[in-house]
Amino acid sequence: MTRFPLTRMARALMGFGLLASPLAAQTPDPASGAYIATTADCAACHTAKGGKPFAGGYAINSPMGVITSSNITPSKEFGIGSYTLEEFSDAVRKGIRRDGAHLYPAMPYPAYAHMSDADIAALYDYFMQDVAPVETAAPETDLPFPFSQRWAMIGWNALFAGGAPITSDPDQSEAWNRGRYLVQGPAHCGTCHTPRNLLMGSKTADLMAGGDVGAWYAPNLTPGKGGLSDWSDADLARYLKTGIATHGRASGPMAEAVEYSLQHLSDTDIDAMVTYLRSLPARDSDLSPAAGQATDAAFAPWEHSANRTGHRLAKDAGGAELYETACASCHGLSGDGSKDGTYPALKGNVTLENGQSANLVSTILHGVTRETEGKHTLMPGFGPDSLVQKLDDAQIARLASYASMTFGDTGQTVTADEVKTLRTGGPVAPLVRLAAPQIMIGVALVVLLVLVLLVVWLIRRRR
Ligand code: HEC
Ligand code: HEC
Ligand code: HEC
Repeated sequence: MTRFPLTRMARALMGFGLLASPLAAQTPDPASGAYIATTADCAACHTAKGGKPFAGGYAINSPMGVITSSNITPSKEFGIGSYTLEEFSDAVRKGIRRDGAHLYPAMPYPAYAHMSDADIAALYDYFMQDVAPVETAAPETDLPFPFSQRWAMIGWNALFAGGAPITSDPDQSEAWNRGRYLVQGPAHCGTCHTPRNLLMGSKTADLMAGGDVGAWYAPNLTPGKGGLSDWSDADLARYLKTGIATHGRASGPMAEAVEYSLQHLSDTDIDAMVTYLRSLPARDSDLSPAAGQATDAAFAPWEHSANRTGHRLAKDAGGAELYETACASCHGLSGDGSKDGTYPALKGNVTLENGQSANLVSTILHGVTRETEGKHTLMPGFGPDSLVQKLDDAQIARLASYASMTFGDTGQTVTADEVKTLRTGGPVAPLVRLAAPQIMIGVALVVLLVLVLLVVWLIRRRR
């Protein structure tokens, strides 16, 4: 790895992901703090939309109330300017603030706990020296009682956090070790891809076996059923680097992970992650059995009048008719996509597979937006705030059922109620922020448990 001289400004921007293309052409230094900040995607949560880099103020909606990310610029008054390296390390890896208060796990410290001392030190130097201080306070998080009791996090942490930095396994290759470090540590893939238990702690025995993320499903990455056994190494690497693979494209939160973090990583690091993912123990996805027949599956749109300019949709239009009107212009009447691949084929696409209906519905609702190497990929959304065409829940359900039946390998039907649940599954906030509200439900349960135990103890003591 060659070190390249970077101006202070350029390094700050790189961490922010703004200098993507000029730097992507060079070999990034994996030991630099800016690179580590990109790998860990600190900007995703600590930079508000349109706000100054790392000045915080991004609001994460949780069922308990709004949690706001902190100003982590080196401002002494409003940021982390007074943090020592040790205090910084405790905040990032243990979720403990400088004043001793516990952070809510909307900050992914359970994954960052696996980061090395050297990377934390480089990250600290980067924030202290290369990030511009912003002298404004981020709004304070003020959850209602009992969630205001930050000490209650001790209980949740004892159960689900507190990992140690990952040490190398001498029996494995350098690439495998690097890949495991990135996947489990800074790149925190498991925050979304590892299933969670009732208290929303990660089920570590089912590492990367697939998990729900708000209105999306982060698929099984193991070689098991419903996993990645039919993806080639090259395909997987291309997906991580560009969001495009033979059988699928990155949408929703994964598109953001690619755009803000993964596309900026070195090819060596991408290949290392692929090497590690290949070695995961196989876990089968818990797929619901294919549901019944969609009513209008027999309708074959390509046998239908192809040119329907000016055709107006009836409210109760069937799935095929909806597809022809809203989707066929880009994805083709027979779902083959465009020759050059700009518009992906829906035939054989992972999003049409059993178990991925949440991703299909969310893609129809919100469309796709992803910027890689300066090129913007865009599919319009068809939800209630669509600028192109608004479809209601029942129409989207019929459309999704039709697409699954016709282009997918397992006939799966989607109901209007399912569409409604996904549509109201919170605004499509970027990245891991989507997982935070769900984690907070677990925190709430632990807080309640601790309070119940406290009351029981007090009553007993009185006796
Ligand atoms: C998924 C969103 C998310 C990501 C990614 C994230 N953070 Fe945070 N972080 C938060 C939130 C939310 C808080 C405030 C939590 C609270 O108030 O309990 C926070 C708090 C902090 C604090 C405590 C500051 C203080 O005094 O309040 C530090 C330091 C910090 N983050 C550093 C980082 C660094 C460094 C990274 C990248 C390695 C990072 N964060 C990535 C969401 C995130
Ligand atoms: C913020 C949550 C989140 C994070 C973090 C995340 N992913 Fe994903 N990932 C998703 C979602 C959601 C999908 C499904 C996207 C779609 O349908 O387009 C996905 C899709 C994928 C796929 C395609 C699998 C398939 O069968 O369609 C791969 C491969 C993948 N992610 C790998 C990774 C790796 C490796 C990391 C860490 C470097 C990672 N992801 C981090 C949420 C996430
Ligand atoms: C204006 C063109 C256009 C229209 C109309 C359109 N799409 Fe798309 N679609 C795209 C583009 C572009 C992508 C993203 C390609 C990428 O991510 O590289 C996409 C992606 C998708 C994906 C995700 C594929 C994957 O691999 O993850 C699905 C599913 C999908 N579209 C279904 C539909 C459905 C159903 C409709 C009709 C409601 C529709 N599209 C309408 C252009 C369009």
